[in-house]
Amino acid sequence: MTSITETITEGKGKRLYATENPDEAVVYYKDEAIAFHGLKRGRIIGKGEINNRICEYLFTLLKQQGVPNHFLRRLDERSSLVKRVDIIPVVVKVRNIVAGSLARRTGYAAGTHLRNTVIEYCLKDSELDDPLVNLTHITAMGLATADEIGLMEQVAVRVNGILTEVLREISIELIDFKLEFGRFHGEVLLSDEISPDTCRFWDASTHEPLDIDRFRLDLGDVADAYQDVLHRLTGYVYKNTEEET
Ligand code: TMP
Repeated sequence: MTSITETITEGKGKRLYATENPDEAVVYYKDEAIAFHGLKRGRIIGKGEINNRICEYLFTLLKQQGVPNHFLRRLDERSSLVKRVDIIPVVVKVRNIVAGSLARRTGYAAGTHLRNTVIEYCLKDSELDDPLVNLTHITAMGLATADEIGLMEQVAVRVNGILTEVLREISIELIDFKLEFGRFHGEVLLSDEISPDTCRFWDASTHEPLDIDRFRLDLGDVADAYQDVLHRLTGYVYKNTEEET
C-alpha cells in the first residue's frame, strides 16, 4: 500500500506526491494541457491515462535495455510509483529532424533531416522558458558536474537509438524529445516522463504530428493522436468513459 503524504510539485502535465517512503514518490498524470508559457490552456481527454501507460511501457523497455531510470510500477490508471530523485536543473533536448524552437532560432525549415543528432542543454526554469545553456554554463553555475553531463549525454544518445528503432517499427518518426535526469543515492537516473507531451512524434507516411503540437498548433484530433500512439506502441485501446465537452 502506497500512502501519499504531500504534494512535492505540480508541473504542466503532472503532479508529484511524496509518500511515507522517503525514497519513493507518486506521479499523477493530468489531462490538462498548457502551452506558450501558460497563454494557451486546455484539456485533452484521456491524456493523463494515456501518458501514464506510455511512460510505463517506455521506461520498462528502457530499463530492460540497460538504461537506469526512476520508474518502479504503475499504480492505477493515472498514477505510477517512481524513485524520489533530486531533479538536475538541466533539460536535455535531443533532435533528429529540425522542428520547434530549432526551426525558429535558425530559420532552417521544419522537417529538415539533421546530419547528426543534435543535443541541446537548457536551464530548467519555466519562468524563463528553459533557456539554452552550454556546457561551460552548466559547470560554471554548478547545475551539474562534467561527469554528470557526460553521463546524461551518453544516456540521451542511447535513448534516442532505442526509441527511434521502436517507433520506426510502428511507423512513427522520432523528430525530437526532451529528457530530465535526477540524482538518487549517488546515481544519475533518467526521470520525468517520455510521452507525446515531451516528444515530437510524426506519422511516418503522412508526417502529421501525433503529439502535443496538435494542441499547440490547433491541428485538431489531439486526443485521437495520443490514443493512436498508445495503441501502436502497446496494443492497448483507450476507452473514453467521459462525455466529450
Ligand atoms: P522545442 O523545439 O520547443 O525546443 O522542443 C524540443 C523538444 O522538447 C520537443 O520534443 C518538445 C519538448 N518540450 C517539452 O517537453 N516541454 C517543453 O516545455 C518544451 C518547450 C519542449
